[in-house]
Amino acid sequence: MGIEMNIIEAKDYKELSRKVASIISAQIILKPNSVLGLATGSTPIGTYKQLIEWYKKGDLDFSKVTSVNLDEYCGLAIENDQSYRYFMNQNLFNHVNIKMENTNVPNGLAADTEAECNRYDQLIENLGGIDLQLLGIGNNGHIGFNEPDVIFEKGTHVVELKETTIKANARFFESIDDVPRKAITMGIKSIMSAKKVILVANGSGKRDIIKKAIYGPVTPEVPASILQLHPDLTVAYCFND
Ligand code: GLP
Repeated sequence: MGIEMNIIEAKDYKELSRKVASIISAQIILKPNSVLGLATGSTPIGTYKQLIEWYKKGDLDFSKVTSVNLDEYCGLAIENDQSYRYFMNQNLFNHVNIKMENTNVPNGLAADTEAECNRYDQLIENLGGIDLQLLGIGNNGHIGFNEPDVIFEKGTHVVELKETTIKANARFFESIDDVPRKAITMGIKSIMSAKKVILVANGSGKRDIIKKAIYGPVTPEVPASILQLHPDLTVAYCFND
């Protein structure tokens, strides 16, 4: 294919988090008004902790940073501790000097979801696109909430979550019945248009899907596989439990 990717293999979760945080931190230092595409899930939590630590030491300044998150569950209020807005506030935004008005997460409560999807795409376009996109990966290869499909969905869209995703994410909810069945996610076009992409994965359970995503065929059945075509992709993982 001729497109190279950077691979970072970390020995443990701490090292993984530190290295990913270093890349994000370099981005902010080099371009203080960066547009960061941010992700939820358990994997980036350590990265966010590290960024907070460096911010507290005075090494990082988020005052000019804008963030756009990948996705949000439909139907959860932002006060709900399972919403991704709540997650981002708790795990990063409340602890650094990013301006809350410069943080963006799709509105999962929007009555008109189509209008919300258009608004989100327009917002990303108005910001001039994403400088650096952080991505986790679902067990089925999803990025954001772009689930396996027969096509790659380009724009922000509403997605019906797969049974496997509902099961995987049930660990964060009281019961599996509480897991929303739908979400709004940024599409593949915004993700692929980001200037830099970092895909992160932690734990032995992610080994197979990462191999498939980065060395297997590019197919919407494994949404993350499209990243092989990105000109500036870094894959950072730790497969040790
Ligand atoms: C959720 C999110 C994804 C995330 C995935 C993996 O489904 N929508 O953006 O990548 O979880 O999460 P974890 O890092 O906990 O494995």
